[in-house]
Amino acid sequence: MRKPLIAANWKMNGTLETNQKLVGALVEQLNLPAVDILICPPAVYISQVQSLVSKTDIRLGGQTLNQHDAGAFTGEISALMLKDLGCSYVILGHSERRTIYAETDACVAAKFIAAVAAGLVPVLCVGETLEERQQEKTLQVIERQISEVVKVAGIEAFKNAVVAYEPVWAIGTGKTATPEQAQDIHAAIRGILANANAAIAAATRILYGGSVNAANAATLFAEQDIDGGLIGGASLKPDDFISICQAADA
Ligand code: PGA
Repeated sequence: MRKPLIAANWKMNGTLETNQKLVGALVEQLNLPAVDILICPPAVYISQVQSLVSKTDIRLGGQTLNQHDAGAFTGEISALMLKDLGCSYVILGHSERRTIYAETDACVAAKFIAAVAAGLVPVLCVGETLEERQQEKTLQVIERQISEVVKVAGIEAFKNAVVAYEPVWAIGTGKTATPEQAQDIHAAIRGILANANAAIAAATRILYGGSVNAANAATLFAEQDIDGGLIGGASLKPDDFISICQAADA
């Protein structure tokens, strides 16, 4: 009942030329009506990718946004601008934003509200660091990251939201959570949402992210509460990304 979603997080990678090749290969080879596919390019390339995917079902998203609609915020991009360029999703609270750009839970919640208000589907990223896992604080961290957003945005806002569990220690490291580790946390995330609203929790897609590749995707996606993936490094390689999307088409 939850349609799988595979989201490509290109991060700060790509050129006009490489984007064209990558997206060209995806458009040519991906035809999976049972899987939602999302590409989140750097903001400067959204229009380029938009024109490349315009005749397909591939969705577009931003990698972050500024919570204000417009104004004197040099260098920033609003939800309305993402929407204007044809985006339907936006990644929020990615661990790189939280750590490198000091985004707090409150800041992520404000962005979440702006996304929902603009009609964008937020992909809310949560996840623990290695240190937090070793200290057995994983659930505490995730509960805090989600509750802060639920408290401010309301559980109803999750009717049109996606959650991505991305253990920080697995991002870009080649170390993936085992399917069992990931499933445990995904079930816990669904439980946290269910405490607020069981029906919304049951319908919310929860993606796994962190070193997903063509070899490990299928076993991760086979888990009951893993509804797809947020893919970084492997989303830049057409063959790998295509295999990952196919693995979700089970
Ligand atoms: P990775 O990145 O697949 O390269 O680990 C995932 C992410 O950061 O979203």
